[in-house]
Amino acid sequence: TITPVLLCGGSGTRLWPLSRKSYPKQFSRLIGEKSLFQASAARLSGHEYGPPLVITNSDFRFIVTEQLAEAGIDPGAILIEPEGRNTAPAVLAAALWLERQDPDALMLVAPSDHVVPDPDAFRAAVEAGTPAAQAGQLVTFGIKPTHAETGYGYLELAEDPGSFAAKPLTLSRFVEKPDASRAAEMLAAGTFLWNAGIFLFSVDAILTAFKTHAPALIAPVRAAVAQGKPDLGFLRLDPGSWTGAEDISIDYAVMEHADNLSVVPFAAGWSDLGGWDAVWRETEQDAQGVATSVNATAIDCVETLLRSEDDRLEVVGIGLKNIIAVAMPDAVLVADSSRAQDVKLAVTALKEKN
Ligand code: GDD
Ligand code: MG
Repeated sequence: TITPVLLCGGSGTRLWPLSRKSYPKQFSRLIGEKSLFQASAARLSGHEYGPPLVITNSDFRFIVTEQLAEAGIDPGAILIEPEGRNTAPAVLAAALWLERQDPDALMLVAPSDHVVPDPDAFRAAVEAGTPAAQAGQLVTFGIKPTHAETGYGYLELAEDPGSFAAKPLTLSRFVEKPDASRAAEMLAAGTFLWNAGIFLFSVDAILTAFKTHAPALIAPVRAAVAQGKPDLGFLRLDPGSWTGAEDISIDYAVMEHADNLSVVPFAAGWSDLGGWDAVWRETEQDAQGVATSVNATAIDCVETLLRSEDDRLEVVGIGLKNIIAVAMPDAVLVADSSRAQDVKLAVTALKEKN
């Protein structure tokens, strides 16, 4: 079986005012009926998947259980981090926990804040990568790049992707978050894919990789799991041990150094909703490119996203072009859509004011 490991710790400031520190984007119904977290869990349930292992922090533990119950999914376990130390300690904790429960398991590590519109195609890609993962490879999922994004990891193919079919290819290199000029070079080279941030590997392969490339993480994280305290169905990792773990992502800690990487190309649609412009692109639009939520009305608008996040609040736009407007009960964002990435400035500005 494959155990889904759902990473559920981020905060997502670029989707303010919907995404908040206390209620980040993965728990919101951003696209469709389910929250992003529920959709991620549902995408990886049934079939060959075992119950998911969720790793999150204390503030979100009841949101996690409520949303899983609502989606009809039983978690295998919920690990609680004393504080976020980024994805390397989180994945290592999951691997060490699984080593005791099901050492032969494959782990499918997935962020809980992405959109994958075609879950069947995604499961087929996972299936295509399974033999490579069983053989000890660290399997990544590669997206065809469309621009010189600096917020992603880049996967250098050791072979021609050919038809971009979902079959595992060998990677020669993993480059996490390049600067703008390197990103432009890699885009132009045509031999790189974007890392989707989703990984498939055996417990054994990832533990070996941590031991080789990030050995200092092992002792504190192992102790945090071993001395973790069961609490109402959660496992609280030991805070004293956890603070000894470096704050680092799995991309920098392991993937950039590993030489047993494979990639399954994935062409069926993927977004990490890195801003309101991405939400606009992933939402159903009319012929004018207008996307509206319930309780939002657009009159003579083009290329605009209008959302009301409160059913007592009507939002009406007239004659708007390239605008993003999101109304919450306590905050309203109105922005030019070309400035979607600057929404994080709003969060900083408000912090300074308060
Ligand atoms: N439990 C837990 N604890 N989860 C975490 C933590 C943590 O400390 N930090 C981040 N996460 C979760 C986030 O909520 C998200 O779902 C996922 O782990 C990835 O973290 P991000 O912080 O969003 O990473 P990123 O977007 O900068 O980069 C990663 O994803 C890109 C694609 O979206 C990398 O893997 C890149 O290489 C990749 O291109
Ligand atoms: Mg991300």
